[in-house]
Amino acid sequence: MYADVVKDLVPSPASWLEDVCSSGRQLLADHALCERKASSMALTFVAHYPDKHDLVHGMIALAREELQHFHECYLWMHKLDIPIPKDEKDDYVQYFLKHIRRDPQNYLLDRMLMAGLIEQRGTERFLIIADAFRNGLFEDFKDDRDTALELGQFYQDLADAEARHGSLFHRLALKYYPEDEVNERYEQMWQFEHKAMLQAPHCGRLH
Ligand SMILES: [Fe+2]
Ligand SMILES: [Fe+2]
Repeated sequence: MYADVVKDLVPSPASWLEDVCSSGRQLLADHALCERKASSMALTFVAHYPDKHDLVHGMIALAREELQHFHECYLWMHKLDIPIPKDEKDDYVQYFLKHIRRDPQNYLLDRMLMAGLIEQRGTERFLIIADAFRNGLFEDFKDDRDTALELGQFYQDLADAEARHGSLFHRLALKYYPEDEVNERYEQMWQFEHKAMLQAPHCGRLH
């Protein structure tokens, strides 16, 4: 269903997977921060557009779900004795933000399309990570097959959620903007996402 409304992203390079596979623990910690930021970002939409009911309704639900993901990541980290890391700038998101139009007419559209594309990238990467855990590719989980398999399932479930979230942002964009405008801008933002993904340095992180 999701594939019907958006086009596939350029696949993540193999070098990204090689890099994250050096430490599943580091990936989990970085990913936890992404979930927490996703929850805050959803509430930012609520604060900025209190009069747009469908958006507010969708974003409150999204904030709760992303917070639940953060909680699940945190419980994994606690179990594996991984500390919550300090916030670090996300180069992928920063690059993307440079292309957001700031005028009141276009800002909401660009933010929704950007958020949807980030969710799409999350879907693609969580599926790769789920496979990597199931196939025993993470260096630091090679001796703990049971945990690796459980984490594989965890990431599979998250991929499904991310696909729904991407779809939600696309539907909301179409709710508030004409279809032609959404499609045209989506194509441009799709290109920005591609460039952002390729230029973000690999350092064992989700993005
Ligand atoms: Fe999430
Ligand atoms: Fe999400």
